[in-house]
Amino acid sequence: MNGNLWRQDRSAGREQLPRYVAGVALIAFGLSVLALSLDRFLMVLAVVVVVTVLVLVLLWQRSLPHRATTALTLLARGRDGERPRLRRIWRRGAVWHLAWRVPLGVTVTSLLRQREAIEQALDVSIELWYNRRLVHMRVGTARLPKHVDFCDFYRRPPTVGELTFGVGRGREGALWVDLVQLPHLLIGGATGEGKTAFLRQVITGLVLNQPIEQLRVALVDLKGMEFGLFEQLPHMWGPVARELDSALALLAELGAELDRRQAAFAEAGVQTLARWNEVRPTETLAYVLVVVDECAELSAAEVSDRDERVRKQAALAHISRFCRLGRASGIHVILCTQRPDVDAVPGQLKANIPATVAFRVRGETNSRILLGEGNEAAAVLPPWPGRGIWQWDTQTQFQAPWLSPEQADLLLNAVRQTALLAGAGSVPPRPIRTDDRKAVVS
Ligand SMILES: Nc1ncnc2c1ncn2[C@@H]1O[C@H](COP(=O)(O)OP(=O)(O)OP(=O)(O)O)[C@@H](O)[C@H]1O
Ligand SMILES: [Mg+2]
Repeated sequence: MNGNLWRQDRSAGREQLPRYVAGVALIAFGLSVLALSLDRFLMVLAVVVVVTVLVLVLLWQRSLPHRATTALTLLARGRDGERPRLRRIWRRGAVWHLAWRVPLGVTVTSLLRQREAIEQALDVSIELWYNRRLVHMRVGTARLPKHVDFCDFYRRPPTVGELTFGVGRGREGALWVDLVQLPHLLIGGATGEGKTAFLRQVITGLVLNQPIEQLRVALVDLKGMEFGLFEQLPHMWGPVARELDSALALLAELGAELDRRQAAFAEAGVQTLARWNEVRPTETLAYVLVVVDECAELSAAEVSDRDERVRKQAALAHISRFCRLGRASGIHVILCTQRPDVDAVPGQLKANIPATVAFRVRGETNSRILLGEGNEAAAVLPPWPGRGIWQWDTQTQFQAPWLSPEQADLLLNAVRQTALLAGAGSVPPRPIRTDDRKAVVS
């Protein structure tokens, strides 16, 4: 696709060659006439004007609006050869906003099918939409770094949002999102591509910026290798679940918390956690973040033992329920998987997780499972750990902030110390007491 575009681009250049030759001949002719008929001052002035015009034309031809228009012309020519007409150009830093009137029959959907070709041809990321007879394109032109340092990245976090974390550096600059808005996230990618490192930086970023009254974290790690550094945090809902039994117990407890919150909210006539906290300032509740590293470990597909299969199905059913109903009660899920297939992430579960981070995957099928039909972007990512695709309201490539386990431990130590000094160790680990809902709603 991309190769075709460039081949067509070069032939378009050849098509225009006679016009350039004619232009240069005309200019040469004009200058000779001037040289014969006018004095030296006018001659110099004419040369300056002609050179300036030529430089401006060359600059325009190399500019993003011109290159984008050429790409669009090649991909979106009308049936009678009509071309898209560039109507608006705005620029703010690395972000351009362009708008064209396109020929009849050319749609945003048809252009979106060519998104990868346009992005690769222009070396940018794009968003496309239609509004008031124009097709608009937002173009991010910043270069993606191979490495992003966590501390540099988090130096200036945005002040909006309730559970805001950094996804990474994208073509439009730093990419921040609010988990409460998402409200759940699926992370996929082949082994060693940066999934656990991404979880580490997200959890650390949230814990550093949120007090325990605002955030509780429940961690499931059936591989049993990660998350040790979060163990002693005051934000933890309970110990990290490393076996199926403890994971099931933790998820069942969170399921009971969901039930309690639903009943309490219904009684108080509120629809969201933010509203509950507004109307019940003395009984405020924290958001609960449920993180599962390697969801495929909960897959019941290849399990022969009946009891184990039932327990895994029960665990997945709990997670599925949080994804379906958790938003209003402030329970948010982040799932991580090497295998994005239906065994690891059942269709109904995936349908309730609107946001995806896709790191590099092996093969186009995995990319399509993660990002949607026809979307092979995760299979052609460059081979750098932490390079991924963010897909939610838009799709864009990014480089995730890197936070080593040692650095995370150092940063989290400060949170542990502060919590100890403030006496947070005595705060009960849960926002609602599990044994008595009335104690909360009364
Ligand atoms: N954002 C990043 N920037 C730089 N290097 C990274 C980044 N993320 C991961 N890495 C490198 O890749 C290695 C593997 O990362 P990670 O453990 O997160 O992979 P994974 O996707 O969880 O693999 P698995 O599926 O096997 O658990 C890290 O130890 C680190 O060296
Ligand atoms: Mg991992």
